[in-house]
Amino acid sequence: MVIVLLGPPGAGKGTQCKRLAEKYELVHLSSGDILRSNRANGTELGKKAAEFMDSGKLVPDQLIIEMMVGAIESAKGNCVLDGFPRTVVQAGELNEELSRKGKKIDAIVDLIIDDSVLERRLTGRRSCPACSAIYHIDTLKPKVEGVCDKCGKKLAQRTDDKPDVVKQRLETYHQQTAAVVGYYTGKKYRILDIDAEKSISEVTSLIFAKLDNLVTA
Ligand code: AP5
Repeated sequence: MVIVLLGPPGAGKGTQCKRLAEKYELVHLSSGDILRSNRANGTELGKKAAEFMDSGKLVPDQLIIEMMVGAIESAKGNCVLDGFPRTVVQAGELNEELSRKGKKIDAIVDLIIDDSVLERRLTGRRSCPACSAIYHIDTLKPKVEGVCDKCGKKLAQRTDDKPDVVKQRLETYHQQTAAVVGYYTGKKYRILDIDAEKSISEVTSLIFAKLDNLVTA
């Protein structure tokens, strides 16, 4: 099963993908997490991606496509995709790769949210560099301040969650990524729109309800 989660930075893709992965037994493939892990490990890909990520721009398609095709292969095509595809070129390549493997996208979920809500979500986010768990200083606090509930490591603020980079990321989303929804609509995919301004657990319930319907249909 392949599920794609779309939505702007801070919409809750990572938060919801972790829950989807658990419920439907899928591998959570976050392009952002894979890039951050490459950076932490000092790989060539990580070095090439750094300046794009830190300035809120997209990493070039070819680097991302190669990285994600490898990840999807390792997951044996049983995955929930978070942050990929992010351009129409990436969406086209994903379709080709899946059809080469005799697979297809089973569901596309689009998290709908106004930009005005996103800045506070992103600047207040804290995440675990070791296990990628996600917290928020107001809405999802860890049990002990600054410490990951799951693995006990020190939480950090992402370098691209500073206000000026957040502004650029939102611009990049509207200029390059929003068109991916149009790409899928044009290809007659059904997109499951979700009101992502509701609380985390309400958003999860809305997504589960729509996906359960699809799975049992
Ligand atoms: P990436 O890591 O993918 O960042 P993003 O898409 O900008 O998404 P985020 O991780 O910021 O947000 P999210 O939607 O996952 O929200 P989250 O659940 O964390 O990409 C980073 C960079 O890598 C890009 O800028 C680019 O340079 C590069 N990159 C990655 N993929 C690429 C690609 N395919 N092509 C090219 N370049 C690529 O939630 C955010 C916060 O809000 C958290 O604190 C959370 O607790 C809180 N929250 C979540 N849901 C709710 C809710 N319902 N109510 C209240 N608070 C909530």
